[in-house]
Amino acid sequence: MALGDKINTLFSIYFIFPLAKVYLYLIRNPKTREYFESNGILYLGDVSVDYVKNFIDGISGTKYWMKVYNRIKQANADLAGCAMAGYNFVLPRNPSLIKAILVKDASHFGRVDTLLSLKGDYFVSKSLIFAQGEAWKKTRAKFESAFTPSKIKQNFDQVNQFGKNLVAYLNRELDRGTKAGINFGLAAHKYTLDVAGSTTLNLNTGSLQTRGPSHIEQVWGKFFVSFDNFWNWWKPGFIQWFPRIATYFKITLVDKEIVQFYRHVAKGEMNNSNENEVGDKNNFVQLVHSTWQELYGRHVDRPDEEEWIAANLFGMTVPGYQTTPTLISMCAYVLALHQDVQDKLRDEVNATFESNGGEFNYAAVSQMSYVDMVINETLRMHSPVGLLGRMCTKEYPVPGTKYVIKVGDIILISLYGLHYDEEYHENPQVFNPERFSGVNKDFTFLPFSQGLKSCIGIWMVMMQTKMALCHVLRNFRLTPSPDTLIPMKFVNSQVPVMDPEKVFVNCTKIE
Ligand code: HEM
Repeated sequence: MALGDKINTLFSIYFIFPLAKVYLYLIRNPKTREYFESNGILYLGDVSVDYVKNFIDGISGTKYWMKVYNRIKQANADLAGCAMAGYNFVLPRNPSLIKAILVKDASHFGRVDTLLSLKGDYFVSKSLIFAQGEAWKKTRAKFESAFTPSKIKQNFDQVNQFGKNLVAYLNRELDRGTKAGINFGLAAHKYTLDVAGSTTLNLNTGSLQTRGPSHIEQVWGKFFVSFDNFWNWWKPGFIQWFPRIATYFKITLVDKEIVQFYRHVAKGEMNNSNENEVGDKNNFVQLVHSTWQELYGRHVDRPDEEEWIAANLFGMTVPGYQTTPTLISMCAYVLALHQDVQDKLRDEVNATFESNGGEFNYAAVSQMSYVDMVINETLRMHSPVGLLGRMCTKEYPVPGTKYVIKVGDIILISLYGLHYDEEYHENPQVFNPERFSGVNKDFTFLPFSQGLKSCIGIWMVMMQTKMALCHVLRNFRLTPSPDTLIPMKFVNSQVPVMDPEKVFVNCTKIE
């Protein structure tokens, strides 16, 4: 089972199947209808059963909410409400309302933590991605400072080198001769792990140097692997329902080898004797350590230093673990299918390379515009994240209506719904990078979200994706291979679905 499917299954089991909630459905359903309809809001009913039915039919949560988005669009509504598993869901479609929720009035909304809350998980609950309130705010401010464009510039040489390593890896794969084409998904995965290992953990992970899995690949391969074992499915439920006991007994969803791996990096930083250290430019491990000292160092009731550093290093590598390789391999896929776009992009890459004395540098790469358009169009059609969620924490009167969103209601924004809405993106099924030429797509194109909780890694992602494309296109022509899935499978004739780990393309050396 792919990681995404596992997460989806996990989420669905612990979110949908506690059918104890059914009694809430029976009791609350009439009230919920009244709650929405008396305020003039379109009500789509209780979708619990429909969601489970779709889930069993293999429709993921992302695709399901896109279908719901399209129902709201057909009804010509700006937003709608529905109920599921005892919760009220609010589904905005209007870009200005989405902007208000994510940015202008963001103080009314927090993290969705009622569904699969990991508060009881002693490890992940310490990381930024699960932190709440003041702890989140302060930690985020510190971590964000390591991912600004000027800090990312300091990582340029490292990433550039990994671009060269990616080319060397692909050349070795080609020399082996394979009929199926290159597993570009795997190459992108190795490249991403090496970039994250070096820029975030100060480690030389060497994944692109080996054909088989490197140490970090093996360790990360354990992520959620325990869910292949039926008996381990008890863990999330236990953590969810008995958080105190789970914390006391140090229960975590994360495999113990992964925890050990991050603890080792944390210990190395604390002893200041990490033998794998590759330089202290934009040293993120040090920053995480100093954040702990600043926020908790003097507190009596402080989280364990090594655990906190390890959890936060883990928490900053999780968000890019599958998303970034998905983006890079989907770029390769669309370029293989659109030779005209590939040629135009290669011209830009070569011009940048040649006008800088036969090298890439940060300033020149930042000036490239077509590469941004290609990446953005890939993100629009194949967004690695499909949904944004918020929970209302302070009553919110929806502008222009008499409807007030209540505390505890969940807001879901369907990115696929927005990205494939022909009202905002003409001919949305057509891959056309030109649609991003100088046009403002604010709040109709949100692959990294916007506002206080938006993606911290955006500049790093863009830089590493550009460098992968620059190096690959200078050296290879990408074409479909016998194993490239064409056409992609379409769900509801709307969204292409593909497992990014199995993106095969042909790479032909450019002499
Ligand atoms: C193509 C790759 C990526 C995509 C599409 C992506 C997208 C997103 C999205 C949509 C969110 C949720 C924002 C929200 O709820 O409003 C998010 C959160 C986050 N991302 Fe990324 N991400 C990517 C890679 C990365 C990488 C490489 C990093 C590591 C530096 C990263 C760090 C984070 C963090 C820390 C958060 C949570 C922020 C918070 O809760 O305050 N992401 N990302």
